[in-house]
Amino acid sequence: MNIIDEILKLKKEKNAVILAHCYQPVEIDEVADFVGDSLYLSKMAATTNADIIVFAGVHFMAQSAKLLNPEKKVLLPNLNSGCFMADMIDVKQLREFKNQHPNIPVVCYINSTAEVKAESDICCTSSNALEIVKSLNAKEVLFLPDTYLGKWVEHKLGNVKVTTYNGFCPTHLRIRTEDINNARKMYPDAEILTHPECHWEVCKLSDFVGSTKDIMEYAKKSKGKQFVIATEKGVVDRLNRDSKLFGWEKEFILIKDDIICQNMKWNTLEDIYNSLKYEQHEVNVDKEVFCYAKKCVERMFEALKTGSIK
Ligand code: 13P
Ligand code: SF4
Repeated sequence: MNIIDEILKLKKEKNAVILAHCYQPVEIDEVADFVGDSLYLSKMAATTNADIIVFAGVHFMAQSAKLLNPEKKVLLPNLNSGCFMADMIDVKQLREFKNQHPNIPVVCYINSTAEVKAESDICCTSSNALEIVKSLNAKEVLFLPDTYLGKWVEHKLGNVKVTTYNGFCPTHLRIRTEDINNARKMYPDAEILTHPECHWEVCKLSDFVGSTKDIMEYAKKSKGKQFVIATEKGVVDRLNRDSKLFGWEKEFILIKDDIICQNMKWNTLEDIYNSLKYEQHEVNVDKEVFCYAKKCVERMFEALKTGSIK
């Protein structure tokens, strides 16, 4: 039996579900039940009936799945899968940031540890950051760790001061305004689709800014035939695969070759197989922070449902 069939068999035997982020190596989709961005995968994690969740993504994503499913076993196939941005702020730094700006609601990007979520008021993802900040009905918010997503939200909303922590994604920051200008020259008919973790000057020059899943949906629906993608390579791999598979006759070009998140590329099919077989590596959240961090993520879903939060 090949490794894909072995994984599918184990998945059935153990009543497991495999969630895969769209920056994962593309072959992981062969065994995944759901593939998408952070928000979509959190929603899937919140509603699954499986006993085991294998999270093909990075650590903070598996942690969020655990927060939403305390009674389930959540597994991260390869323990190297961290996130540089999530590691840029710890609780001590968060407290200092809050002390410098007292009595202002704290919005944390889902790319953060459970400890940081536990001391934040509400969480957001890249696809709902605007809605979440709006739902607070505040004149000013603190936003962390990603300074660029925060600045993008401030620019888009126009009536909320967004004071940001100085975190960033090293992968997305490699994309510069010159790259957008060059792409415009080389591919004058292409639309440029960008993730909001990019520098906000890069976002401003783009045709569309959205989460990984939003970018993929936009590209699918657009009447355009050529697209330059300013986010991680996994998105381009999936779009070109689907274009071929479904006869879209569309071309997707990665803005430049090195837009690869190494953290997202550790997981292999073999790691997933071992993870399911030996039920390794289990992700847990400290008891002291669990319910506070959970509340932070649940408030995001509540705000999305009601449109406002007290
Ligand atoms: P999404 O919310 O678009 O999935 O982004 C997560 C991420 O880590 C992007 O770098
Ligand atoms: Fe973290 Fe950036 Fe990788 Fe996303 S792309 S997981 S923010 S390091």
